[in-house]
Amino acid sequence: MTFAAKITGTGSAFPPHRVTNADLSRELARLGVETNDRWIRERTGIRERRYADLTKEQRPNAALAADAAIKALEMAGRSAQDIDQIIIATCTPDALISSAACWVQHKIGATRAWAMDINAACSGFVYGLVTATQFIASGQSRTILVVGSEVIHPYLDWEDRGSCILFGDGAGAAVVEQVPADSEHRILSWHLSSDGKYWDLLYVPPFHQGKLDFLNHTSCQDSKMIMNGREIFKVAVRTLTDFALLALDSQSLTVEDVDWFVPHQANKRILEAVAQRLGFPSDRVLINVDRYGNTSAATIPTVLDEAVREGRIQKGQLLLLDAFGAGFTYGAMLIRW
Ligand SMILES: CC(C)(COP(=O)(O)OP(=O)(O)OC[C@H]1O[C@@H](n2cnc3c(N)ncnc32)[C@H](O)[C@@H]1OP(=O)(O)O)[C@@H](O)C(=O)NCCC(=O)NCCS
Repeated sequence: MTFAAKITGTGSAFPPHRVTNADLSRELARLGVETNDRWIRERTGIRERRYADLTKEQRPNAALAADAAIKALEMAGRSAQDIDQIIIATCTPDALISSAACWVQHKIGATRAWAMDINAACSGFVYGLVTATQFIASGQSRTILVVGSEVIHPYLDWEDRGSCILFGDGAGAAVVEQVPADSEHRILSWHLSSDGKYWDLLYVPPFHQGKLDFLNHTSCQDSKMIMNGREIFKVAVRTLTDFALLALDSQSLTVEDVDWFVPHQANKRILEAVAQRLGFPSDRVLINVDRYGNTSAATIPTVLDEAVREGRIQKGQLLLLDAFGAGFTYGAMLIRW
């Protein structure tokens, strides 16, 4: 490879509307669905999440993505005109056409960029970052904006108390730039994988299911998420552990070499189980699931941005990103900051 890729700026954006476990329990009770703050905190570690106001923006997901992107560009010291390529990872786009990436391109004025969405559910940001790394390594692009962005709450089934308490809306962005291949500070390695046999552990039913009819004006279903939480828990703990070890082995590194473990934020108990299996002390694991819930493709870039802005992540430190998501999709990356 001729070039390497480096993250030069990060940003995040959350809707202002904070929904605590108590708020959610109260609203769900009106539907006859019983839950409470204590159960949610003990079983998931989540205290609150944010929900976008669907009436305020024409494209609430893309609006969050644009906000996060602008902050990442500011940190990188770049303008929208510097961007060659935009990749938005989302499984909850505001519309199927046009893409969230084209909307963001227009909103931030990145007129030179070409733009596309990708969907790898909760692994989306890692998939996006790997894609960006390839375009940079080949010399095709020098500056790429990668965003993980979700407005997921409209897809929740409020009558399924096992899933609807878990998720929240948000967006996180990174500016990725070309550096010499032998640069010390760069994305070191990546591993991606998918396993479609687990499709039914977490999915939204096909839009047209049972409604295929050309002349009768087939309309899209109002689809809600279906999830098998208990099975996901087991698969998540196993695969997050396996992918972390794969990433480390590939570079002849160990857990001791890693300064920050940056896992997908699905459930605090999953993170604790994985950290314990790998031998990571809790003070080296980045966590924001307590305040935002599972924001799918946005969890890794937002928790990363938080730690960068707080000065916890320092130049020269080693980061291990580790994701799993519906599909199932998996991905791990090592980054020398
Ligand atoms: C969903 C999840 C929180 C459930 O936690 P759990 O400890 O596995 O709980 P279980 O599903 O075994 O349910 C235990 C009990 O709590 C109840 N329960 C489930 N949700 C509840 C809620 N919100 N409030 C109160 N009780 C609840 C169940 O009905 C069950 O009751 P029962 O024993 O009387 O049948 C957990 O399995 C999980 O986080 N899985 C991973 C999901 C995930 O990460 N999805 C996104 C992937 S990217």
